[in-house]
Amino acid sequence: MKIKTSIKFTTIALATTFGLALAAAAADTAPLPPASTKTGVTYATDIKPIFDQSCVKCHSGDKPKAKLKLDSLENALKGSKDGKVITAGDSANSLIVKCVAHTTADHDSWMPPAHNKANIGPLTPEQIGLIRAWIDQGAK
Ligand code: HEC
Repeated sequence: MKIKTSIKFTTIALATTFGLALAAAAADTAPLPPASTKTGVTYATDIKPIFDQSCVKCHSGDKPKAKLKLDSLENALKGSKDGKVITAGDSANSLIVKCVAHTTADHDSWMPPAHNKANIGPLTPEQIGLIRAWIDQGAK
C-alpha cells in the first residue's frame, strides 16, 4: 500500500514537472494572439484604458522606463530610447506587441515585467488582440 502511494506520487510529480517544462517551452514559441475583428479601434476609446491600467505606472512622468511614455497617443507613437515601438499598419512587427505577447527572446522585455512590485499582471489575449487591431488599423 505504502509503495503504491509513493509510486503514484512520483508519477504525478513527474507528470507535473514535464507539463510545466512543456508549457514553458510553448511560451517561448507561442504565436501572437490574433488581432481583434473590431473595427474603428482608436487609442482614445480602446487602448488608453488598457495602458492606464497596466502600463502608465512605469511609462509616464519624469522618468519613464526605457524613456517610453504610454500616457498619450502622441507619446506612444514617439517610442522609447531605442526608437519606435509601434509600426502603424504592422502589429506583428511592432515591438510593443512582441513585448506584451512575450515573444521577444529577451525575457526582460516582457511587459509588464514579471513579479513587478506594483503587482500588475500580464495582458489578456483579448487586450493584445485589441492593441494589434489598433496598430493594424493605423494606430489612430
Ligand atoms: C512595473 C513597471 C513596468 C510596467 C507596469 C510596464 N513596463 Fe514596460 N518597461 C519597464 C522597464 C523597466 C523596461 C525596460 C526593460 C529593459 O530595458 O530590459 C520597459 C520597457 C518596455 C518596452 C521596450 C522599450 C525598448 O525600446 O526597449 C516596451 C515596448 C514596453 N516597456 C511596453 C510596456 C507596455 C505596453 C506595458 C503595459 C502593458 C508596460 N510596458 C508595462 C517597466 C514596466
